[in-house]
Amino acid sequence: MSLPDLTGRRAVVTGANAGLGLVTASSLAGAGAEVLLAVRDLAKGDAAAGRIRSAHPGARVEVAKLDLADLDSVRRFADARVAAGPLDILVNNAGLMLIPTRQATVDGFELQMGVNHLGHFALTARLMPALRLAAAARVVSLSSIAHRLTGALDPRLGIAGPYAAMNAYSQSKLACALFGFELDRRLRRARARVTSVVAHPGYSATDLFTRHARPGLSRLNRLATPIIGSSPEHGAQPQIRAAVDSTLNGGELIGPRFLMRGKPVRELPARNARDGRSAAWLWERSEELTEQPFELLAG
Ligand SMILES: NC(=O)c1ccc[n+]([C@@H]2O[C@H](COP(=O)([O-])OP(=O)(O)OC[C@H]3O[C@@H](n4cnc5c(N)ncnc54)[C@H](OP(=O)(O)O)[C@@H]3O)[C@@H](O)[C@H]2O)c1
Repeated sequence: MSLPDLTGRRAVVTGANAGLGLVTASSLAGAGAEVLLAVRDLAKGDAAAGRIRSAHPGARVEVAKLDLADLDSVRRFADARVAAGPLDILVNNAGLMLIPTRQATVDGFELQMGVNHLGHFALTARLMPALRLAAAARVVSLSSIAHRLTGALDPRLGIAGPYAAMNAYSQSKLACALFGFELDRRLRRARARVTSVVAHPGYSATDLFTRHARPGLSRLNRLATPIIGSSPEHGAQPQIRAAVDSTLNGGELIGPRFLMRGKPVRELPARNARDGRSAAWLWERSEELTEQPFELLAG
C-alpha cells in the first residue's frame, strides 16, 4: 500500500530486526518517520538498520535494546524513550511461537504469554506518557489467526496447567487481541488522543514457524511456509495499514482479505476476542503480574 508522508512522526517497532517487524520499520522509515528499532540483540538491530538505510537513503532509524522476556529491560527501554519526547506510532510486533516445552521469562511467565502479551502490556503502559504527548498516536497489537483456534482465555495464563505449544501461542495471541480492544475502550473512556488497532498478517513466510519448533516440525514448516504463506512484504501490510491509516477507528481488526493472504481489510474478530469481561479481567491481572499500573489520563 502507498503510505502517507510520515515526516515528523516518531515510531517504535518491537522485534524490528527480522520478518514482519523489519518490513514494517523499513516501510515507516521509507515514508519519512523516525523509527526506533526495539530489539533484543543489538548486533541484529544494527544490521537491520543498515538494510533499511540501504533501501531508503537518508532514513532516520535508531536501534535500542528491548528484551520483552525481562521486565527490567522493558522498563529501561520505555523510560529512555519517554525521556526522548512524543511517540506517534507503537507497533507491538515482536513475538515467538511453538516453544516445544514450557519455558519461562526472567519474571517467571510462560514464554509466549510473557513476551507476546505481558511484555507488550508493560511496555505500552510505560510508554503511555510519550504516546499521550503526540497529536494522534496509534498503538498496534499483533494478533493471529491462531486466536480463532483456541477457546476462551484460560485464567492461568500459562503459569500453571498442562502445556501444549500451539495452544500456548494461540492463548497469547488471544491475549494480544483482548488487550488491543480493551486498550481502545479505555482510551475512549479517558477521551485520549491515542487509538488502539489490532492487526494480523494471515500466514506469512517468516522465521516464526522455524526458529523454536521441534526439529521435525521446523523442517516441515521450512518447506511449507513459502508455498502456503505470503512474503513478509505482503504479510506486513495489515500492521502497516493499522499503524498509518487515519481513516481507521480505534478498536478495529485489520487482516488480509482472504484470511491467510490478500489486501489488508477490516475483519471481525472471533467471539473469544470480543469478550469484554475477559478483556477487563486480563487487564487487571496483567497489571498485577507485571506490577505495572496502566494510567490512562486524558490528552
Ligand atoms: N508470520 C506469520 O504468519 C504470523 C502469523 C500470525 C501472527 N504473527 C505475528 O507477527 C509478529 C511478527 O512475527 P514474524 O512472523 O515476523 O516472526 P519472526 O521473523 O520470528 O520475528 C520475530 C521478532 O520478534 C523478536 N523477539 C522474539 N522474542 C523477543 C524478545 N524476548 N524481546 C524482543 N524481541 C523478541 C525476534 O527477535 P530475535 O531475532 O532476536 O529472535 C524477531 O525480531 C509476531 O507477533 C507473530 O506472532 C506472524
